[in-house]
Amino acid sequence: MARILVTGGTGYIGSHTTVELMQQGYDVTIVDNLSNSSIDVLDGIAAITGRKPEFANIDCGNFVDLDNVFNTYHDIVGVIHFAASKAVGESVEKPLLYYRNNIGSLITLLEVMKRHQVQNIVFSSSCTVYGQPDSEHLPVDETAPIQPALSPYGNTKQINEEIIRDEAHTDKDLHATILRYFNPIGAHPSAQIGELPNGVPQNLLPFVTQTAAGLRPELKVFGNDYNTPDGSCIRDYIYVVDLAKAHVKAIDRMLHAADREQVEVFNLGTGNGLSVLELIHDFEEATGVKIPYTIVGRREGDIEQVWAAPKKANEVLGWKADTPIREVLASAWKWEKRIRHIQ
Ligand code: NAD
Ligand code: WQD
Repeated sequence: MARILVTGGTGYIGSHTTVELMQQGYDVTIVDNLSNSSIDVLDGIAAITGRKPEFANIDCGNFVDLDNVFNTYHDIVGVIHFAASKAVGESVEKPLLYYRNNIGSLITLLEVMKRHQVQNIVFSSSCTVYGQPDSEHLPVDETAPIQPALSPYGNTKQINEEIIRDEAHTDKDLHATILRYFNPIGAHPSAQIGELPNGVPQNLLPFVTQTAAGLRPELKVFGNDYNTPDGSCIRDYIYVVDLAKAHVKAIDRMLHAADREQVEVFNLGTGNGLSVLELIHDFEEATGVKIPYTIVGRREGDIEQVWAAPKKANEVLGWKADTPIREVLASAWKWEKRIRHIQ
């Protein structure tokens, strides 16, 4: 069977994608420098799939180490490139770290892939490239304009998309699928793998589950005076397992569809916008746990509302994110309880 190289595969989305790839019969080699994940994730993956993926603890920016991985595994037919630094606030504080890591890794990876004639890459991009779309572009499809990035992190996604396009323009053998994720949430239903934020969570759902677990006294809701029905911001929260399955579809398509274009872009979301207050309410309904919260001022740089038009992914990839939100929220709580040893 074909082997997929998953960079950043012990991370949040990479680990869930590795599980789905293995369950569909792919062999997987993970490369990860464990800068934002733990080696124990491999045990979680094995507990679900019955076997451990191959693993190399290396930095994707290191040409020699990456080259060795391709020398070791001659059957790699495609790469899913998750490895990146992803904290928006930190990227404002340490822009050079973000540009070096996120851009250097992709360049090195493309160089090594070319050397080994591996011609398929799936790249993790983000809805952040759209900024705040005009009302005429909501929900957002793939033709909506890219807007100036609001952070160095967001800029690395835009630059990386351009690097891929430029390289594909000159190397007609290179095929790329750019996946723009909306807001991934939740954990594997087994609670063997999930999201492990470092320090105080910046993202909404990990803060909610940590508040539910008693680690945080209360959630701060950043603003209720936006131009939305309840005044809080709206996002498209997508279940990480649904998102992971989209990667398997993308790989299947790269390997088997004759009609594919050289570079394809897909928005991965549910197509439904949910407000912060609605998410809190749904979490309480799904788990029976009350979330203490207060409304505070807006968070700088926040987008008011954005959600996906996932029609292209639905039709071309034959994929749909359809797990009910309460099931998704319950999965996040099950995971939080497991890692905090709560009954
Ligand atoms: P994550 O931090 O959990 O996973 C990323 C993994 O990459 C980590 O395990 C980390 O150790 C590893 N890594 C980082 N730099 C590396 C390097 N130079 N060499 C080797 N390994 C390296 O993040 P995630 O949430 O799973 O995100 C995966 C990808 O999806 C990232 O590219 C991220 O920017 C993108 N993305 C994430 C979200 C989100 O909200 N989680 C949304 C849109 C896009
Ligand atoms: C969601 C909503 C907050 C925390 C970020 C990145 C983006 C993308 C996904 C990668 C917002 C509100 C949050 C809290 C709150 N990642 N909130 N209290 O802002 O959509 O995007 O992650 O590409 O690039 O910027 O996600 O989870 O941080 O926030 O009220 O304690 O929850 O204001 O409306 P966001 P988020």
